[in-house]
Amino acid sequence: MATRTNKQKRELRSQQWFGKADKDGFAHRSWMRNQGLPSHVFDGRPVIGICNTWSEFNPCNAHFRRIADYVKRGVWEMGGFPVEFPVFSTGEAILRPTAMLFRNLAAMDVEEAIRANPMDGVVLLVGCDKTTPALLMGAASCDLPTIAVSGGPMLNGKYEGQDIGSGTQTWKFDAMVKAGEMTIEEFMSAEAGNSRSSGHCMTMGTASTMASMVESLGMGLPMNAAIPAVDARRYVLAHMAGRRIVEMVHANLRMSKILTRKNFENAIRVNGAIGGSTNAVIHLLAIAGRMGIDITLDDWDRLGQNVPCLVNLMPSGKYLMEDFYYAGGLPVVIREIGRLIHKNALTVNGKTLWENCKDAVCYNRKVIFPLKKPFKRQGGIAVLRGNLCPGGAILKPSAASPSLMRHRGRAVVFESIEDYHARIDDPKLDIDETCIMVLKYCGPKGYPGMAEVGNMALPTKVLKKGITDMVRISDARMSGTAYGTVVLHAAPEAAAGGPLALVRNGDMIELDVHGRRLHLDVSDDELAKRRKAWKGFKTPHKRGYAKLYVDHVLQADKGADLDFLVGKSGTPVLRESH
Ligand code: FES
Repeated sequence: MATRTNKQKRELRSQQWFGKADKDGFAHRSWMRNQGLPSHVFDGRPVIGICNTWSEFNPCNAHFRRIADYVKRGVWEMGGFPVEFPVFSTGEAILRPTAMLFRNLAAMDVEEAIRANPMDGVVLLVGCDKTTPALLMGAASCDLPTIAVSGGPMLNGKYEGQDIGSGTQTWKFDAMVKAGEMTIEEFMSAEAGNSRSSGHCMTMGTASTMASMVESLGMGLPMNAAIPAVDARRYVLAHMAGRRIVEMVHANLRMSKILTRKNFENAIRVNGAIGGSTNAVIHLLAIAGRMGIDITLDDWDRLGQNVPCLVNLMPSGKYLMEDFYYAGGLPVVIREIGRLIHKNALTVNGKTLWENCKDAVCYNRKVIFPLKKPFKRQGGIAVLRGNLCPGGAILKPSAASPSLMRHRGRAVVFESIEDYHARIDDPKLDIDETCIMVLKYCGPKGYPGMAEVGNMALPTKVLKKGITDMVRISDARMSGTAYGTVVLHAAPEAAAGGPLALVRNGDMIELDVHGRRLHLDVSDDELAKRRKAWKGFKTPHKRGYAKLYVDHVLQADKGADLDFLVGKSGTPVLRESH
């Protein structure tokens, strides 16, 4: 039935479906042909799966059918056969209780869809926060030739002549309303200009960070991170990715040849240089776990420690992704930190990361600063240790207040996010700006899904004094668009019996970011007594995916993947269905 194309010397995986001259081959081809496909598409050419997270419930990815069309153009041009397929789409702005709960579900969906279908290579269409790690994780466990294409950021938000950034301004405006500096009518009218084009959040939040991780890991084409979603060049990039994936299949350039330890180390350094999201930590740990590469929190601290932040983008700075693109984008940042990266790390276009970036030109030094005169001295992620977080906790120095980086304060404890909401603005709450806000039971098992609630808004009575930051500690995450002196991902989490569960109102806590220390100033004897009295945590989730998740999710310091999903199974061809 099938004849291999001239270029294709080895039989591809898809031929075990489409190349058979029996009833099974008949079935596989015949039903596909109801889509108007001629017989020659089954001739042994590479079948490219286009893994699409399009969903109208995920507005950041709502333009992805169009992106897929451009990928298809490139695949057809190079003699491949593109087939688009949907997977679970994790929309950050909509999903409850949190999109992170479903990252691993989407990753399972991706992995099983790739393995069960006749694919020789995959293009991952990623955008909104969790879609990027979910697709990379699932694809990593399959290890086919793979390219990721990000959907691109929205255009800059606009309100009353000013640029406004996704999320970052939402938190700021919310604080201004509480402080009496903005009316609720003004707040509502800002909403319309906040998200005014297709694309994902245009701050250097988690989506833009993860798009930058795609590029710095070598999993995307140069400029993947920054081209706005509505810029024609985003569609050119998608087209070129379609061309390139066919070449990658011919060369058998699998994901495992790209995602080496060097590439992860480069990405961690780039995260420091862009002032990237704390969420990148948990996602890269999970992706590395799929690849069998032992990246740890200590690698994050060690590799990020001497990397200054070069990028003046919200939430750490002033500008937005559109400005970043016009300034030259991520290749400029990578060129600037050239002496800190592994220059020979391979990327999907067959060139090294350094070859892709060494000639990048900066067009706006207000947006991308040079290494010798950085935007902020301390980029990277600080990993804290101590009796409050034996498994580690993290803080983003570039988004924190220098005056709070060393702080001793009295704990004001919230036993749940509902408890926080109920009491934070109670005038009787005994709290001032010197206190440390502690939030429990918001980790992977506790929430479940480790929601982005760690950047608790300050009490109104503190905001009204003009105070904008306090130390906050939790086992939760925070939005990549958020800022503040916020200690996150405390491990083990309270619900898993971590020491966070034992903190009480009035305890003194010491934070020393420079010394990498987070200490609960309570004696070991007293903590032992409290542990004895601790009643444990009972999840209300007794069935379905939430139960599977709570039973199997790993702690934050291990990437919060499900324990049975770590590692990979490749893409063996499974037994026939009939
Ligand atoms: Fe989708 Fe921010 S809500 S990227």
